[in-house]
Amino acid sequence: MTRIMAGEVSEFEVGMQKSLEFGSDYVLVLRSLSGFWAIEDRCSHDDNELLGGPITEQGGAAPSIKCLRHGASFDLGTGKALSLPAFKAVKSYRVVLEGTQVWVESKI
Ligand code: FES
Repeated sequence: MTRIMAGEVSEFEVGMQKSLEFGSDYVLVLRSLSGFWAIEDRCSHDDNELLGGPITEQGGAAPSIKCLRHGASFDLGTGKALSLPAFKAVKSYRVVLEGTQVWVESKI
């Protein structure tokens, strides 16, 4: 399992998004109204970053993020593509809060 420290809980106000190197990938870490989430910061449609995309809360399910380039959306819990033009999932990661710190871990 690979893990990185994403920052302090106190710096992640609701709505904050941050892109970090994670091995050979970039991971997008964010805090929404429903919690902390982390997915690969690379749209599976045409490699655009997902950083800065609008978040939609989905009432009980994980929220989604929309790619700003062509509008595909992804489930922040699983990385699943929810709308075209993307149809392939992006990687999703586990977020662990340890004391005052936010950690991101690979799920494998
Ligand atoms: S690059 Fe994201 S929808 Fe096309």
